[in-house]
Amino acid sequence: MTGVSIDLAAKSPLYVGLLFGGQSGEHDVSITSAKAIASALSQNPRYHVQPFYIQRDGTWRSPDVSKKVLDAGKGLQDSELLTNAAFFLPTEVQQVDLWFPVLHGPNGEDGTVQGLLQLMHKPYVGNGVLASSVGMDKIAMKAIFANAGLPQVKYVALNRWQWQQDEPAWSEHIEATLGYPCFVKPSNLGSSVGISKVRDRTQLKEAIASATSYDPRIIIEQGVVAREIECAVLGNEQPQASAIGEITFTSDFYDYETKYTAGMADLIIPSKLPDNVTQAVQSMAVKAFQTVAGSGLARVDFFYVEATGTVLINEINTFPGFTSLSMYPKLWEYSGIPFTELCDRLVALALEKHG
Ligand SMILES: Nc1ncnc2c1ncn2[C@@H]1O[C@H](COP(=O)(O)OP(=O)(O)O)[C@@H](O)[C@H]1O
Ligand SMILES: [Mg+2]
Repeated sequence: MTGVSIDLAAKSPLYVGLLFGGQSGEHDVSITSAKAIASALSQNPRYHVQPFYIQRDGTWRSPDVSKKVLDAGKGLQDSELLTNAAFFLPTEVQQVDLWFPVLHGPNGEDGTVQGLLQLMHKPYVGNGVLASSVGMDKIAMKAIFANAGLPQVKYVALNRWQWQQDEPAWSEHIEATLGYPCFVKPSNLGSSVGISKVRDRTQLKEAIASATSYDPRIIIEQGVVAREIECAVLGNEQPQASAIGEITFTSDFYDYETKYTAGMADLIIPSKLPDNVTQAVQSMAVKAFQTVAGSGLARVDFFYVEATGTVLINEINTFPGFTSLSMYPKLWEYSGIPFTELCDRLVALALEKHG
């Protein structure tokens, strides 16, 4: 261990910089997650929580304003926003001993903020730059999973320029290799934004136009009829997998509306699966985590094709939803680690990694 980590492991109070809000579509979820985490951390007298709210435009706010956002559980009114063309950090950043980034999606979960925290030479909770960026970009993630031998749906990766060069040839290639229905997705997003399920060539073109409006890099996947299974991972070099959860819903797929409208989806913990399937999911979750060089936490999502007994990996989320009702903390709660202890463990893992 370095001197820095020995000092921090014993330091009291430990100033924990809680970063939340952010520039992605998951801004509001981040506020709810951060509120739950702040209240858990404040139960430990050793932690002094310093909140830093990131406005939708990327401006960082000082702890006094950020605390109001946390208390209210919602973002600031337009009149309270700070408009800053230049990027700056509040002076209180200097006091922080350890960062707890509670950010989802682009410019938060994708390695950008992790790079900034890395340059501050302070420990931070969760995944580093590599795991975060790989986990956020579906094309990169799938290439790495394929290389590790993790089974996935068939897919075609392409960019806007390639598509525009020869739409008919790409359409034929997609139809021949994947068929319908298929799913068209921006490579780098989340929360199902920009994702369409398509059933014919007209819809395919519309879906590609929509996905490329979010990201010039897109991915098209063969559609599978499957149960949606999720597994939580916790740890650094010797990560552990939780019990398995399942998401059920009646809509066509787990789209944005289904994810964020109360009552449209149910979380089932534990998912009732044959033992060998549970074990396969858990070992694939750990393997996926190690493959992207994960640290701290991740939620790994799968498709279980019941008809054939096949498990396919869908994605890894390097900072999963963390509200008191979210799958990640619920899976650990069921597996014997309550919310408050989970937050403690994540802090300990950040210190261990930094050391
Ligand atoms: N290949 C597929 N086959 C069947 N359903 C899919 C497929 N890809 C995505 N879906 C549906 O779309 C949802 C969102 O896709 P996902 O790749 O997980 O995007 P995000 O990263 O935005 O969560 C999935 O949870 C699932 O319901
Ligand atoms: Mg998903």
